[in-house]
Amino acid sequence: MKLTPEEQDMLDGKYGKSTQKAIEILVALGTIYSAERLIPVTSVQVAGVSYANLGEAGLHFLAEMADGGGKARVLTTLNPAGMDIENWQALGISEAFAESQKRVLEAFARMNVITTCSCTPYLFGNTPHYGEHIAWAESSAVCYANSVLGARTNREGGPSALAAALTGSTPEYGYHLDENRKPFVTVEVNGRLVENHDFGALGKVIGQKLEAEGKKVVPYIRGVEKASVENLKSFCASIATYGGTALFHLEGITPEAAQMTPPEKTITVAQEEIDEANRSMNDATSEEVDFVSLGCPHLSIKEIARIAELLKGKKVTKEFWITTARPTKTIADMMGYSQIIEESGAKFATDTCCVVAPIKGRFKALATDSAKACYYAYAKNEFKTVLKPFDEVVEEALK
Ligand code: F3S
Repeated sequence: MKLTPEEQDMLDGKYGKSTQKAIEILVALGTIYSAERLIPVTSVQVAGVSYANLGEAGLHFLAEMADGGGKARVLTTLNPAGMDIENWQALGISEAFAESQKRVLEAFARMNVITTCSCTPYLFGNTPHYGEHIAWAESSAVCYANSVLGARTNREGGPSALAAALTGSTPEYGYHLDENRKPFVTVEVNGRLVENHDFGALGKVIGQKLEAEGKKVVPYIRGVEKASVENLKSFCASIATYGGTALFHLEGITPEAAQMTPPEKTITVAQEEIDEANRSMNDATSEEVDFVSLGCPHLSIKEIARIAELLKGKKVTKEFWITTARPTKTIADMMGYSQIIEESGAKFATDTCCVVAPIKGRFKALATDSAKACYYAYAKNEFKTVLKPFDEVVEEALK
């Protein structure tokens, strides 16, 4: 790889040990993927934040990088942690876990990383513009950034995203290059798509069809007439989880789609397949549900407003987690939604989510509108699931 004099100085250790380690990671990655150079990035999202996933080894790596003097050179935010940083006791998180999780966040803070923990950084200011090169981890956010915002990122891992933050750069390969952003297959959708869980089911169907193509392919999708921000975040999370998809073009909706020619090779999706995907994520009955969670990916303020409207003057009968980013929660506080929600007995699980929090064994069945949450409930063998429209999930908590 060709390095600039500044990058060479980083590699020679002139910017300290952590920056040296960071650029070593990026050069190794670039060499594997035949990148010719590093390119500047404007934004980073780091995953691997929950102590439940990191363990002591991960925490040790982060502490070492912080001790080595590494500082983020660009706007860098974090994925959800394993607990609500303020409200962890109310969520039943142990003292020992909380201690370790705080040490993780402290290491990031020492590196000037913004310790706002969320998988929807694009909803509160880490919002790259069309064509910007960025380095994001978190599969749902990567898919949203590439497809909906038109920014350019590969699916980074935790260490490579942190390395990009400390150097302000990433190797130029994959989705940073025009040729890799072209669609490979057209997907014709014939279905009725209204709710987040419909988009989640569609993501599962398309994702699994693309997986069957044998490699990670960019689809050009037709037949979806409209989609809200909330629908799109649900779709991104699902197609990224079930198909490993990092970029799609949605005709008439996403920004690069207009520049692309739909490929001749076509696969179709029928309503029955979407219905079947929905059914496949319902293996529990309403009576079995003892845990309700909305906010995978993290809730927008519009969704929180709707929850408050549905819960006003009522009491929940089950553990109900409202998972969102802290800046969104702050807005909800100011708009009076948080008070209504908390008076109902529902709990904010800010900074975290039902997948990364250490809750295995506590609940039998989860009610959600998220296909991604269902995937992890099965993959981690944590609970059975009921997948429903947003409003009906809230009703589950009131039954
Ligand atoms: Fe976000 Fe957790 Fe879902 S990280 S996409 S809320 S699994």
